[in-house]
Amino acid sequence: MKKFRKLSFIMLLSMVFILSACGTSQVDGGKSGGEEKKTLKVVTDAAYAPFEYMDKGEIVGFDVDFIEAVAKEAGYELEIVNVGWDPVFVEVKDKIADVGISAITINDDRKQTYDFSVPYFLSTNKILVPEGSDIKSAADLKGKVVAVQNGTTGQEAVEALLGKNNKDIKKFENNNLAIMELNSGGADAVVADNTVVEEYAKNNPNDKLVVVEDANAFESEYYGLMFAKESPLKAEFDAAINKVFENGTYAKIYKEWFGSEPDVENLKA
Ligand code: ARG
Repeated sequence: MKKFRKLSFIMLLSMVFILSACGTSQVDGGKSGGEEKKTLKVVTDAAYAPFEYMDKGEIVGFDVDFIEAVAKEAGYELEIVNVGWDPVFVEVKDKIADVGISAITINDDRKQTYDFSVPYFLSTNKILVPEGSDIKSAADLKGKVVAVQNGTTGQEAVEALLGKNNKDIKKFENNNLAIMELNSGGADAVVADNTVVEEYAKNNPNDKLVVVEDANAFESEYYGLMFAKESPLKAEFDAAINKVFENGTYAKIYKEWFGSEPDVENLKA
């Protein structure tokens, strides 16, 4: 009898072991400590400093630190892959990747195809020009050659100003190429997200570029994490984002990258 009990105890133990091993492959990840975590594939276009860029072969940036903190909160490991801007949208739509993060503006057009997390960053387009340029506002872009990253809200904003098929709008696969075009004299201006052009002008003083803002011409935009429609991850990540807003992790990461305090209340509104 004693022997039988011992045997059933061992059997019970191994059942528990097998069950818990199966548990790790559940889609919901589960955050109870010690369990092996599910790895999500995250795609990005790492040519958009300071949000995502390559540094000594590594993808770094505010977005990287932010999504790592959020994923930790939600109980996931991440594999972040630099696929380029257009493939971010393809891979998320086709569910080749689980999440897109790339300073992606949440807008109605994209919402038809994707689900977005709650907003995590406030942005607006601004104009990058050489020092001494006569471009002082968005209206001054008329008649000028403007470089943009293809498929961005910057492209849309410039098309709204200059007309959709205007050949003075030069479109590039990534924003660094657009800035290179400006530096080489092939364009008079670049229109892109304010933080990106501001950081670029500040960190590359030899290029002698300045940033022009025009709050009347360019709308406020919010970045979100991008998921396939109906992805169960949205709810989990929204909860985790709100957690990192509330527990100070977001403010800590923000301060590390931007040196100032974020306006979290504005994001939550
Ligand atoms: N926020 C803009 C948009 O969503 C530009 C983002 C570009 N991001 C990037 N990693 N290249 O259209």
